[in-house]
Amino acid sequence: VIRSAVTGVGSYLPEQIVTNADLAEFVETSDEWIQERTGIKQRHKARDDQPTSDLAVEAARKALADAGKTPADVDLIIVATTTPDMTFPATATIVQRKLGCPVNIAFDVQAVCSGFVYALSVADGFVARGHAKCALVIGAEEMTRLMDWSDRTTCVLFGDGAGAFVVEPREGQGTKDDQGLLGFALRADGSKTDLLYVDGGPSTTGSVGHLRMLGNQVFRHAVVNIAEAITACCKAANIEIADVDWFVPHQANQRIIKGVGDRLGLNEETVITTVAQHANTSAASIPLAMDAAIKDGRIKRGDMVLLEAMGGGLTWGACAFRL
Ligand code: ACO
Repeated sequence: VIRSAVTGVGSYLPEQIVTNADLAEFVETSDEWIQERTGIKQRHKARDDQPTSDLAVEAARKALADAGKTPADVDLIIVATTTPDMTFPATATIVQRKLGCPVNIAFDVQAVCSGFVYALSVADGFVARGHAKCALVIGAEEMTRLMDWSDRTTCVLFGDGAGAFVVEPREGQGTKDDQGLLGFALRADGSKTDLLYVDGGPSTTGSVGHLRMLGNQVFRHAVVNIAEAITACCKAANIEIADVDWFVPHQANQRIIKGVGDRLGLNEETVITTVAQHANTSAASIPLAMDAAIKDGRIKRGDMVLLEAMGGGLTWGACAFRL
């Protein structure tokens, strides 16, 4: 069988760091409250003249170098983003131009914080069926652009960044020892739109809008539903939870990550967290966390990795692969 294998990983964070203390200067909050409720210590923020595509390009370059590939090799670009440069064209086509990739397939996927897991499943469809040989799957976000900076219940939670995977076909035996993507579980429940959304858009207000969230209700849904998706994903991949070496969750909140871990009885040491440094970077958070854990020597080639996320929609899902 042909598997879609992750052959390169890269990420990029904008230079500017905003600490909790920085936020406390203009909104009624404190470093203690933010750390205790979320685990977040700081977030990165893009420059005014630095669009989402620029973050995506930096991450993509590093992922391509990691895979030993060049922009000329790329035949599919999928950008998972909820903060595109423009309403159209797709940020993926802007990335294609900036990287200098040949004419190929390029489009965006919009599933908010679950976007990277959704995008990876789409790339798998192309790669495993022979329609792409070198795919760039990028999560790139500037969530700080969607903040209402007077709303302390949301503005402390988010940050900017980008991460990318290179996905290439690899021959496998059809077993769980194969390198590559082994299984997915994707979910959406549109009846929960009101819990997490942006109050603007081209066909409604004509404006970009601000992020709105009923945080404690999102929290309640997250733990139960993510745990279910992880279990379903393992079943689809024909693996046991005990086969997973590393869990790389979407980095929204330390308490959600811990809640899911407790529910499934995961060993804390196997769960990668970067939420303290990155805050919630939506679709970028999983590849950012993955890259950090590869760079610090924890995740190694051959390890079994499980990604999971939940976001606006609500959407959620999980994906298992051997690196
Ligand atoms: N600083 C100080 N106080 C605050 C802040 C803040 N930044 N934000 C809220 N508070 C106050 C509230 O006003 C409230 O005060 P009150 O009791 O006087 O009314 C009090 O803190 C408690 O508020 P809750 O909302 O009940 O606090 P909770 O413990 O639920 O924590 C939080 C809020 C952190 C948002 C939590 O609900 C959460 O993490 N939810 C998950 C949301 C999330 O991570 N979403 C992202 C996933 S999807 C995606 O990534 C797009």
